[in-house]
Amino acid sequence: MPQAAAASKPLDPHPGRRALVIGASSGIGAALVKELAARGYAVAALARRSSELDELARSLPGARIVTRSHDVSRFAEVPALFEELVRELGGLDLVVFAAGIMPEVERHEYDSEKDLRMLAINFGGCVAWCNEVAKFFRAQRSGTLIGISSIAGERGRKGNPMYGASKAAMTHFLEALRNRLAEANVKVCTIKPGFIDTVMTKGKKTFWLIGADECARQILDKAAKGKGETFVPTRWWFVAFVVRTIPSAIFRHMNF
Ligand SMILES: NC(=O)c1ccc[n+]([C@@H]2O[C@H](COP(=O)([O-])OP(=O)(O)OC[C@H]3O[C@@H](n4cnc5c(N)ncnc54)[C@H](OP(=O)(O)O)[C@@H]3O)[C@@H](O)[C@H]2O)c1
Repeated sequence: MPQAAAASKPLDPHPGRRALVIGASSGIGAALVKELAARGYAVAALARRSSELDELARSLPGARIVTRSHDVSRFAEVPALFEELVRELGGLDLVVFAAGIMPEVERHEYDSEKDLRMLAINFGGCVAWCNEVAKFFRAQRSGTLIGISSIAGERGRKGNPMYGASKAAMTHFLEALRNRLAEANVKVCTIKPGFIDTVMTKGKKTFWLIGADECARQILDKAAKGKGETFVPTRWWFVAFVVRTIPSAIFRHMNF
């Protein structure tokens, strides 16, 4: 695994360009690692699949990448791992929480085990990581925290109740962190993507689909502009607006 050679030797001496991406082995997270590396960041990339992380690191010769295999639902491991990665990077300026799952859910399926696993990864992992990051950035009085939520959190759809609920919770939690951390000069950016071309959308009916690389560019540009909560691409705000204004009595007849 292409980790930093020695924990005592910081990976990157450049303040302002040290990033951590959680959920980095594919899709949007992997594209963010590539884009951050292209923008001169040293990056710590985390996910469960170490082979994909290694491959990603190998595909970026010359980039300063450290990888770790980690399951975000193993909450107890987070504080020590966070501390270790900050030490290896030589500091921390930007964090993206991109880990998430969206398993298929049948129309009449009510499976608590499946739902609670989704909640633990999509929201529990976000809480475990973002709280550590919040403490660190607050003490440092700088930093940017980006959370990849979803437009799916705007309403309670029939299709996948827990996926939407986990993203709604994430959006709410990140807003609260943004409000708490503003006085410490810490930026918290909630990204709500529409349809992005990754394994998550494979085989699904989509529209306005954009690639993960374009998505990553837009995410980093929006965060750099200090956006609080924003759609990617921006035009999805219109869909969200329409979806939010549909009365419940009508919404419950819609099949998506
Ligand atoms: N694609 C879209 O249209 C879309 C739209 C809105 C929001 N999003 C959100 O964007 C984020 C990225 O999704 P994607 O589309 O890029 O799909 P993806 O390619 O499946 O990426 C998901 C990432 O999350 C990681 N992950 C999943 N479970 C994990 C766990 N237990 N511990 C650590 N990492 C875990 C995966 O790595 P491992 O499997 O290796 O652990 C992978 O790196 C997700 O939060 C998703 O909900 C996607």
